This record gives sequence, structure tokens and C-alpha cells, in this order.
Amino acid sequence: MSIATPPAPIFDKGLANTIVAETQMSFIDGGKGVLEYVGIDIDSLARKSTFEECVYLLWNRKLPTTPELNSFTESLRAHYALPPGMTDLIRSIPRDATPMHALRTLISALSLFDPEADAEGEEPNARKALRMLAQTPALIAGFDRYRKGKSIVEPDPTLSMASNFLWMLNGAVPTAAVARALDVCLILHADHGLNASTFAARVTMSTLSDLYSAIVTAIGTLKGPLHGGANEEVMVMLKEIGSLDRVEDYVMERLARKDRIMGFGHRVYKAFDPRATYLKTFARQVSADTGNLALYEMSRRIEDIMAREVAAKGIYPNVDFYSATTYHSIGIDLDLFTCMFAMSRIAGWAGHCLEQLEGNRLIRPGAAYIGPHAQPYIDIANR
Ligand code: SDX
Repeated sequence: MSIATPPAPIFDKGLANTIVAETQMSFIDGGKGVLEYVGIDIDSLARKSTFEECVYLLWNRKLPTTPELNSFTESLRAHYALPPGMTDLIRSIPRDATPMHALRTLISALSLFDPEADAEGEEPNARKALRMLAQTPALIAGFDRYRKGKSIVEPDPTLSMASNFLWMLNGAVPTAAVARALDVCLILHADHGLNASTFAARVTMSTLSDLYSAIVTAIGTLKGPLHGGANEEVMVMLKEIGSLDRVEDYVMERLARKDRIMGFGHRVYKAFDPRATYLKTFARQVSADTGNLALYEMSRRIEDIMAREVAAKGIYPNVDFYSATTYHSIGIDLDLFTCMFAMSRIAGWAGHCLEQLEGNRLIRPGAAYIGPHAQPYIDIANR
């Protein structure tokens, strides 16, 4: 029996033009700037939905009825609290650790307290996904309060995901406006096709490793400034610029040096990132309400300059550009911004991991070998 000759391999650096999976969760039209979760436009979801409802939509591929949403919300809230022993572990982390390093470590540690950590199958994985999503806010808030020498605040199961996080972070229940601002950010970051961290999670899951390991892979991948770390870099840039009158020179100097302006450009969007569209209106409102309008005005000036200078290259604001001002305005510390991204994207990562298992094939691309051949082994004495 002859073995079929495989098709000639394609070298697609960065996989920009390669499809490696099918998904029913989010659809992106990069040319038109469209993002849908299970076919529903992101703008409608940002205006009308909640993070909990969007997670249900992504994981069940349909909007919940009221009883379904109540039951799902109840399950989430029942798992807000960390397993006993995790707070001791939080207190063992160096206070000056980078929050994303701490989060990667703590999510990994959660698996040590989960008897189902290596359990296979859709039901155990769905339970693990729910627990990780429910407990991540407590990990982030707990580490932040510990590093500041404050007591760790227990979760409040009467509060939404967004409100509960801010309660645990600040020790005070947030206003409805601030809670809604975070809820919208969580909606907008929940899933986004096969971005680098989601792809990384799928690679891990394709080996039939466990869901905790896949999420840890994703967190490490998200941390990079070309990906989820960009929102922190946007705020660093705004602080470096300092005032509206310095924006033009700063941006033009960086462009002249071929430096990237963080929060702009996207591998897929060659139009305005639809998440940035909504975040922009939110950033204006929240920054005005909290005395941070100068940040928003600087951002708008950067946007205008970039539109003049590089829009022709399809470089527009992405989700990170206005999320930075929004997070800062609701009192989130700069080095927690990417943790906010992770807190939301666990929904997408877990959903993609479960999809990967539905029709799994080990993800193992090739590499073009460009080194030498037929080299002799030379004894060390003769080298
Ligand atoms: C996220 O993939 C996802 O879905 C990710 C994400 C998600 O939800 O998961 O949407 C979240 O990661 C958003 C992106 C956040 N990253 C940043 O904001 C970092 C800054 N952006 C870039 O580094 C860049 O735009 C990337 C990495 C996002 C995409 O880069 P590509 O597709 O690899 O494109 P490229 O680097 O080849 O750039 C093409 C051209 C280059 O110019 P030329 O050499 O052709 O003259 O565009 C220029 C680049 O110099 N360019 C920029 C730029 N981004 C690209 N120039 C100035 N500023 C920028 N930000």
C-alpha cells in the first residue's frame, strides 16, 4: 500500500495566512472591523449584555434564558472563594513580583488544589473552566492587596464578577458606573479568534494535557507587549508624553525611529478595532467622570496623528488603546492592566480548549531547516 504523498508544505511566517482550527465562538472581519460572538455583533453585546451572559454565550453558543443565566451566575458565584491554602501561597510570593508572573504562578497552583486537575472529558473540563474563571479575580485582587501590605478581602457572592473584583481589590463596593465600565471591558476582551495566547492554549490542549496547563500557557503568551501587554505600554506612553502639547513631537519622533505606537495596529484588523470604537466612548465618559480627561484628550490627539501618518497602512487603534485610559480612570494600577485582560480572556481560552478537544489533532507544524548537513563529529580534543 503506497503512502499518500503529503502536499508541499507552505512557509507562512507568523501564520498570518494559515487557518489551523474551526471555531463557533468569535468571528472577525479584519477588513470591515467586525467582531461577533456566536454571530452577535460586539457593539450590541457591549451595550446590552453583561460579562456573565457573554461567557454563557461563548461556552454554550447561545444566549441564556433567565433561568439559565441565573443558574450559571449562581454557579460562578459559588466558586468565587479560593481553595484553602491558596491565600497562604499568595502571601509567599515576593511583594515586588510582576502581577502577570504572580497570576501565571497562582493559576498553576490552583491545579494542585483541584482533585479534578487531570480529569478528562467535557464535564470535568467545563467545571475546571468555571472554577478558574470564578477564582481568577480573587487571585489578582489578593496578590495586589498583599503586595501593598493590606489584608486580603474575601469575595462577596452577592456581587457580579466585575463588582466582586473591585470589592476585593479596594475593600469597597464600586459605584454602578465604575462596575459597568469594568464589565464592558470584560465583555470586549472575552474572546478574539485565534490570537497568539488562544493559539498557544490550543497547542497545549492538542497534546491532551490538562486545562490548567493550557491556561498557564496562554497567560505566559498574553504577557508579551505585542499582545496583551500592550495596554500597560499605552499607559506608560501616555505618562511619558505627559501633556497634550508634547503629543505631536513624541509620536512623530517614535514613528521616525520606526518604533511601534502601542495600542495601534493589528494582525487582523486593517480598520478600526470594533472593540476600540466602544471603548473610546467609554474612556471619554469614565475619564471625564474621574478627572482624567487629559489622558483621553492625549489619546485622541495620538489617534488623529496616527490617522494622518499611518492609516494608509491599515494601522488603527486596537482594543488596548482606550482600555488603558478606562482601567486607569477606574483606579486599576497600570501593572494590573494585562491581568484584567487575562481575567476576561480565560473565557475564550477555556472555550477554545474545549473546542480543540471536540475534533482534536495534535498541532505540530514543521520548520524549514536552514542549517548545514553531512557534518563530521570532531573529538573535543581536536576542536
Ligand atoms: C492584541 O491577535 C489578536 O486578536 C490580539 C488581540 C486579542 O484580542 O487577543 O486583539 C489583542 O494583542 C492587540 C494588539 C496589541 N499590540 C499592540 O498594540 C502592539 C503594537 N502593535 C504592533 O506591534 C503590531 O501592530 C502587531 C504586532 C499587533 C501586529 O503586527 P503585524 O501584523 O505583525 O504587522 P507588522 O509588525 O509586520 O507591521 C506592518 C507594518 C510595519 O511597517 P513597515 O515595516 O511595513 O513599514 O506596520 C507597521 C510596521 O512598522 N506597524 C506599526 C505599528 N504596528 C505595525 N507602526 C507603528 N505603530 C504600530 N503600532
